[in-house]
Amino acid sequence: MALQAVSNLFHDQFGTDPSVVSVAPGRVNLIGEHTDYNEGFVFPAAIDRETWVAASLTEGETSVVSLQTGPGHSFFADRVEPGNVHGWARYIAGMAWAFREIGIPVPDAQFAVSSNIPMGSGVSSSAALEMAIGTAWLALMRRTLTPSELAIRGQRCENGFVGVQSGIMDQMASANGRAGQAMFLDTRSLEITYAPIPSEWKIVLLETGKARALTKSAYNERRSACEAVAAKLGAGSLRDVSLEDLEANRDAVGANYPRAKHVVTENIRTLEFVDALRTSDTELVGSLMRESHESLRDDYEVSCPELDAMAEAARITEGGIGARLTGAGFGGACVALVHQDHADQFSETVIRRYQEAIGDTNGYKGNALVCGTVEGARITLSRDAE
Ligand code: GLA
Repeated sequence: MALQAVSNLFHDQFGTDPSVVSVAPGRVNLIGEHTDYNEGFVFPAAIDRETWVAASLTEGETSVVSLQTGPGHSFFADRVEPGNVHGWARYIAGMAWAFREIGIPVPDAQFAVSSNIPMGSGVSSSAALEMAIGTAWLALMRRTLTPSELAIRGQRCENGFVGVQSGIMDQMASANGRAGQAMFLDTRSLEITYAPIPSEWKIVLLETGKARALTKSAYNERRSACEAVAAKLGAGSLRDVSLEDLEANRDAVGANYPRAKHVVTENIRTLEFVDALRTSDTELVGSLMRESHESLRDDYEVSCPELDAMAEAARITEGGIGARLTGAGFGGACVALVHQDHADQFSETVIRRYQEAIGDTNGYKGNALVCGTVEGARITLSRDAE
């Protein structure tokens, strides 16, 4: 269906069939939030909300069209620079720029894009676009990078081209995801350990309806605060700061203490969570997710009333194992783990409770998506290979 839709869009726009079609998933992060740019631990899973890209080489400019948002800016791939391209085409131009940065000359191409990843919900629609575009472009160039090398190109696109100082989690999850598994990632070494999600558990994404206002500035500001604490303590990153060190230097650290405390404790929670998931320890999973949410709310200050209301509704609803905000925060969605048999009823009840709690003043309705898990970025059609 999606393959057909994106191929048809390509044909309508460019008058030929695409040479390749790629697909890359969004992700939820089960735990390990705002740790990735501190060389810490994260535990995301790639979900069955995906971005499809149909592509062919062209003699003219690189041009892009999306089924959801229409045409984007055109540009020449071999000379595009940060600031030259605006709107969603930045993510495509930024991938060309990031490939060039490592000496890969990038030919111009035509791209048609279609996605069912909710935007502004904190489930990495931009990383999925980068990974799908990168995968398609590499196939057109007949080059290969490892999924993790491609993820690093995506991060460079965000950092150097789009201007968000994001970590590596989203692109790594979109590039390296596996069906049925969550992905424990050490963001310092980029070593991945997969852990099966218990088959009787479901992931439910609980969208608040409040678009994540990220908020380049707030995100980048959090990152600087973490780096300032690490520097003050003579550490390369907060990964190397223990809770004891932090407590002992609380006065010296000053106003940034709560920010650092979140990161240091979140790393500890993430390690504990991996074991709790492996042993299907519902109680521990629940309490770690709750502590993570509270730490993000109180110490890191990236939650909002809508995310708090959603997490609370999930916490008191039958069938729920644990819930917390997922992604950067500042709006977006919560992730919940739910006993499979209760998933539908849970979704309905949580959204009703969320609406009751939030009231109708701001018009946010909320929405629940029961998610499956899928493989990372891949080529699904290649005419040359036929
Ligand atoms: C965004 C960033 C990630 C990560 C999360 C917070 O999704 O892109 O790198 O920092 O926020 O955990």
